[in-house]
Amino acid sequence: MFLNRNQELMLKGEFGPAVQKAMELLVALGDAIGAEKLIPIKSVHISGISYSTIGDAGLSFVEDFASLGARATVLSTINPAGMDLIRWREMGVKEDFHSKQLRIINSFKRMNIKTTCTCTPYLVGNKPERGSHVSWAESSAVVYGNSILNIKTNRESGPSTIASAITGLTPLAGYHLDENRKPSVYVKLIGVKVASNLIASILGYLIGREMNRGIPAIIGLNVKNLSILKSLSAGLATSGGLAMFTLIEEKGNVQDAPTMKIDYNDINHLLMDYPLIEKPDLIFFGCPHLSLPEITYIVNLLRGRRLKKGMEMWLFTSRHVYSECLRRGYVEVVYNAGGKFICDTCPVVMPTYLIKGRKFITNSSKAAFYLSSKHEASVSLLDIKTCIKEFTERKI
Ligand code: F3S
Repeated sequence: MFLNRNQELMLKGEFGPAVQKAMELLVALGDAIGAEKLIPIKSVHISGISYSTIGDAGLSFVEDFASLGARATVLSTINPAGMDLIRWREMGVKEDFHSKQLRIINSFKRMNIKTTCTCTPYLVGNKPERGSHVSWAESSAVVYGNSILNIKTNRESGPSTIASAITGLTPLAGYHLDENRKPSVYVKLIGVKVASNLIASILGYLIGREMNRGIPAIIGLNVKNLSILKSLSAGLATSGGLAMFTLIEEKGNVQDAPTMKIDYNDINHLLMDYPLIEKPDLIFFGCPHLSLPEITYIVNLLRGRRLKKGMEMWLFTSRHVYSECLRRGYVEVVYNAGGKFICDTCPVVMPTYLIKGRKFITNSSKAAFYLSSKHEASVSLLDIKTCIKEFTERKI
């Protein structure tokens, strides 16, 4: 791979050991994926933050970089951690987990990386201009970034994003090249109305499962609602290796591409994999983390109502969005209905002992997939409106 003079000096250690280590990682990655050179990027989003996911090996990796004096040179944010950084004790997080999770977070702080702890970086200020090259991990954010924000990123890993944060560079390959951003399969929807996050999330999951790679062009899906597009992105990234989709009005310049058809039976089949379980006890919304409009919708449905006996509700969002919810009085409404907000984390990346034996209802195919496969939890899929109608009652 070609390196310019400055990059060669970085690789030789002229800019310090952290930059050298980061360059070694990026050059190895670039060579492996056939990149011709490294290019500058505008932002980074790092995944693999929860101690529950990365363990002691990941903790050492991050601490070693911080000890070498690594500093982010571009705007860099991080994915959810394994606990709410403030209310961890109330959640039941054990001391040992807390101290190791804090060491991870503090290492990122030392590296000048914003400890946003959310999978929706674009809702907390990491939203580069259209056309920008970036280095993002977190598959749902990658799909949303490439498809909706029109930024350019591959599906990066935790280590490669840390290296990119330090150097401000990424290998020029994959989705950074315009020729790799063309649709390869049409998706024709037959009688499928994408009117909720649940349906969007399932649709994404089905397309991702069917294709695994390439770029789907979904025909006639005229959706502008960002929450729905966020759910579609997350679903699509869950079941395959996709990193991008596109919405088109009709078959255009992909005339020769094959067509995949999806109808309501397909949606129902997936729903049947997650039927309503007996005596569910925990409603979970916020995979990906809830946006303010989504929370407004939930809060309006909850006003004057409370959860039925034996049922809990957890709403997951970024601390940034949570502050606005506090200001608007939303936190009080949710609390009065018997629910609670949890920030900085999500059930998928929490330690299993926090959710063992719980019976979830969620509206996210990504959450359903990982909760059942990673934590062996029982999960039902239901949309927000039906869920609140079924499991809350009017206050007297
Ligand atoms: Fe975000 Fe956790 Fe879902 S990181 S996308 S809420 S699995």
